[in-house]
Amino acid sequence: MEHFQRLPGSIVIIGAGTQGRRLAYMWSSRGGSVSLVDFQEQQLHDSVQYVQRLRDIHADREKSWGEIGISYPNSLKTTLKDAWLVMECVPEILLLKQKVIAQLDDLAPEGTIIASNSSSYGISEVIEGLQLKNKKRVLSAHCSIEIMGHKDTNPSLITLLLEQSKAHGFSPFHVRKSSIGYIYNRIWAAIKRETLLALSEGVCTPQEIDAIFKDVLKTPKGPCEQMDVVGLDVVLDIENHYAESRSGIPTEPREYLRNMIQYGRLGVKNGQGFYKYTDAPNQMPRI
Ligand SMILES: NC(=O)c1ccc[n+]([C@@H]2O[C@H](COP(=O)([O-])OP(=O)(O)OC[C@H]3O[C@@H](n4cnc5c(N)ncnc54)[C@H](O)[C@@H]3O)[C@@H](O)[C@H]2O)c1
Repeated sequence: MEHFQRLPGSIVIIGAGTQGRRLAYMWSSRGGSVSLVDFQEQQLHDSVQYVQRLRDIHADREKSWGEIGISYPNSLKTTLKDAWLVMECVPEILLLKQKVIAQLDDLAPEGTIIASNSSSYGISEVIEGLQLKNKKRVLSAHCSIEIMGHKDTNPSLITLLLEQSKAHGFSPFHVRKSSIGYIYNRIWAAIKRETLLALSEGVCTPQEIDAIFKDVLKTPKGPCEQMDVVGLDVVLDIENHYAESRSGIPTEPREYLRNMIQYGRLGVKNGQGFYKYTDAPNQMPRI
């Protein structure tokens, strides 16, 4: 395992849901302590169990696990007092993200990096209109993989986070300019959009699209299978966000999705999307 310099202080994760607990596992894998903050006791409890299960599974790997602490939002100031990094992992609702980032800016010590894990809102959109004390330490760190600043983010913090993310087992990339959507997500959005457009024109069936995609690119899943895993309502929300933020996005893919959703086809989560499902598979979609 490569040598790295562990930073003094802890990492705080706001939101102990699907993503927060995954990040807690990774960020505690090299001895640093992680505090999970959520107002739902059950989520905190489940997160600790989730991290422990993964640690048990990977017990053979050489790791020096850090402590996992849990706390509630009402003691946030105390939880943050020695944090070098705080990441918000609350649901993908812009107003909620803005509220949490403003709160963190208010309560976190001056040197704490504040990161948003949003899948679809870049940090420039999140902080727009907010009166922050120190916006230079605020950035996006989607899944600790795509690190993106806004125009005033301190570049040295981006470098630091890229280094630390890599040392904790992520494969991080720097999104060099403010972007509506992250690098991978933009490419994936284009694939989804063109897939839906071709379907709406009657050019091919979902089965044919998936088969040709997998055959040419040697991927385990095709676009329709992958959209089913993410959830067609989520796919529509993301595409709506692109359409609101950019010109030239065709309307047909969204109409096609709305029509499917109207007939109760949401994907794997309710057993019916492009395909029918009997068991919910254990998947980790990238949305
Ligand atoms: N789920 C994924 O696979 C995935 C992948 C990449 C990125 N993301 C992004 O990560 C973020 C979180 O997604 P998720 O799927 O983990 O959501 P989730 O709904 O599973 O969990 C969110 C958690 O935040 C908590 N919460 C809400 N408001 C809070 C507050 N003010 N203070 C503390 N806790 C609060 C909720 O109680 C909940 O436990 C979103 O921005 C999402 O787009 C998710």
